[in-house]
Amino acid sequence: MKPHYLLICAAILAVCSCNTRPRPLEGETLQSPDGQLTLTFGLSEKGEPMYSLDYGKTAVVLPSRLGYTLRGIYTGSHPEGGNSVLDYTPDVDLTEGFRMVDISRDSFDETWETVWGEERYIRNQYNELAVTIKKDVLITIRFRLFNDGLGFRYEFPGQDGLTYFTIKEENTEFRMAGDNLAWWIPGDVDTQEYTYYECRLSEIPREMRRAMDYRDHRTFSDSGVQTSIQMRTDDALYVNIHEAAVVNYPAMHLELDARRLCFRSWLCPDAEGWKGRLQAPCKSPWRTVQVADDARKVLASRLILNLNEPCALEDVSWIHPVKYMGVWWEMITGKSTWAYTADYPAVELGVTDYAKATPNGRHGANNGNVRRYIDFAAENGFDALLVEGWNEGWEDWYGCQKEAVFDFVTPYPDFDLPALNAYAHSKGIKLIMHHETSSSTVNYERHIDAAFDLMGKYGYDAVKTGYVGNILPLGEGHYSQPMINHYNQVLRKAAEHHIMINAHEAVRPTGLCRTWPNLIGNESAQGTEYRARIKPHQVTVLPFTRLQGGPMDYTPGIFESDISKVNPASKDYLASTICKQLALYVTMYSPLQMAADLPENYAGHMDAFQFIKDVAVDWEQSRYLLAEPGDVIIIARQARGKGDWFVGGVTDENAREVVVAFDFLDKDKSYEATIYRDAPDADGVAGVQPDGSNPGKRYVIEKRTLSSKELLNLWMARSGGFAISLKEISGKIS
Ligand code: NOJ
Ligand code: CA
Repeated sequence: MKPHYLLICAAILAVCSCNTRPRPLEGETLQSPDGQLTLTFGLSEKGEPMYSLDYGKTAVVLPSRLGYTLRGIYTGSHPEGGNSVLDYTPDVDLTEGFRMVDISRDSFDETWETVWGEERYIRNQYNELAVTIKKDVLITIRFRLFNDGLGFRYEFPGQDGLTYFTIKEENTEFRMAGDNLAWWIPGDVDTQEYTYYECRLSEIPREMRRAMDYRDHRTFSDSGVQTSIQMRTDDALYVNIHEAAVVNYPAMHLELDARRLCFRSWLCPDAEGWKGRLQAPCKSPWRTVQVADDARKVLASRLILNLNEPCALEDVSWIHPVKYMGVWWEMITGKSTWAYTADYPAVELGVTDYAKATPNGRHGANNGNVRRYIDFAAENGFDALLVEGWNEGWEDWYGCQKEAVFDFVTPYPDFDLPALNAYAHSKGIKLIMHHETSSSTVNYERHIDAAFDLMGKYGYDAVKTGYVGNILPLGEGHYSQPMINHYNQVLRKAAEHHIMINAHEAVRPTGLCRTWPNLIGNESAQGTEYRARIKPHQVTVLPFTRLQGGPMDYTPGIFESDISKVNPASKDYLASTICKQLALYVTMYSPLQMAADLPENYAGHMDAFQFIKDVAVDWEQSRYLLAEPGDVIIIARQARGKGDWFVGGVTDENAREVVVAFDFLDKDKSYEATIYRDAPDADGVAGVQPDGSNPGKRYVIEKRTLSSKELLNLWMARSGGFAISLKEISGKIS
């Protein structure tokens, strides 16, 4: 045989052996309460801890390895530890050579009440298997199997020989049973603000470059992705991998071996490249695999919340849902500025004298403009108004990697903080504070007490934080262990001050809002601020992925999709109909919902704006009527403590006709329905027409009586949608 034939044969053999299904795992099994899911745990011949997951007779996760590689133990002479590799033993391999020490089982069933949420009561029911294994180190792996999926975590009990240790890598595998279709974003250590990409697992390396639509990307490999990742198998199972309760540990991305169809945990490194510094006793976050035979069940899953600790706060009376507007979109679109003056090429905290500066004439957060927004928000029943650009420092806040940009307490000369708060409060509006940290965590932590005290003094009870740019101290990414600890520390401190948090650019949530319900919002994904870059399908994927961990401040409600109407210098067009914007208040769950457009853009459409005024932001129960990632979502929700329902439907770049059944309504009641739907000639994709008309803004509003028996045919335009409000009519129907 010629040498190159030999090579080809060897290559074929290599591919075959990679794709060969491993033998089913033998070991301990655990079943979900409904018996549908089976988890198997066992040690291989080499003592590797392994698990697999089956749905009925269908394999979901093939036998996959578990374990860690730790940095070697310090043996040097310096009492505080050195950095020379010679001072450390070789890596501690905790991936094989284990023996079984103990096995215990448990089951749990409770129903808990949410402070706010998609539903008032959540059932938390699971069966548990905890296996304790030993090599040099004792580890307990705790599996919880729910009807909607699996959670497992590593626990390091206190033990001789293991106190402080450093993770080199966590080696958790998720070996998929097939070449699943996936909705994913690239594995970046600094941003999640990507468009979701759809392809098969085997295609991810090839598609990576195309999926990297973010200009400042810091991706870790050409096959690395972020969680939560949503998949659909060829058996029509919906499988989702994410994590829950990330505390004192880095966020987990996934490195895909596309030939084995196997993900491996890839923890976000700290500035020195390590993946977590721990002190036993301690535990990892939960690794989660949700499984459902219907996409709607993924949206109904509460697995991530259930794996978090119960509420840590005794008094939650100060936490409340918020419907708000903002002096914000005008800066995002470039109509006005965050900065006050153009006098200086650079400014310096505590040195620059703004009193002597000439206003640039475009500063958004000025007294007159803020009052205008307060008036509009108050007239229309809003709770709050966010004001960005109120504080000194915005002249050169971005891109300079300056440590001390803001002090979070000094307003610009044209923002009268006491007077504006008094004016807002007199009209029933609270101002929302804005702390853009410019990613200088050192600077924020330096000023945070004074900043929260100022908020307390003037009656602010919510703050939007932001982490734009490279993290300072330099070298940290946005999701490393020190950054996780920063975000969680800000959350705890805010709770002490009775302050609610909406964090932008912080790590994507992992259900911590169950424990800390003052975390009422996060951005952590590509939202409306991306304007022309928002693809029509984005909002049909986010509820399956990003929203699994907690609500998103998506900032819906843009009525003027032609952004040149707001800022003539802009060429942006937001591809969406007005009715799709309305539907987002229902489909993108958040207890914090913004009406993001300018008052003047609502003024000409007050009939459609009525839906935003009416829609609830906290729910008694939710029904998922139709859902397919990347295509369409229709959800019905009942306002908490009330009989009224709201329905929202959104579609991707395809127009579609749907039939909505109202059998979720009370059978003994009738409802006054207001239906906001795309007009027959509406189109969310076409853009502004040669005659200057904008088909994204065409809608029809109808009122009629509806009962639980009825079906409604509804048409959604390309990147369109519909919204329905249903008010109870008292009395029985005939
Ligand atoms: C990015 C945030 O996502 C956006 O909402 C905010 O206005 C800017 N940073 C400025 O903080
Ligand atoms: Ca952002």
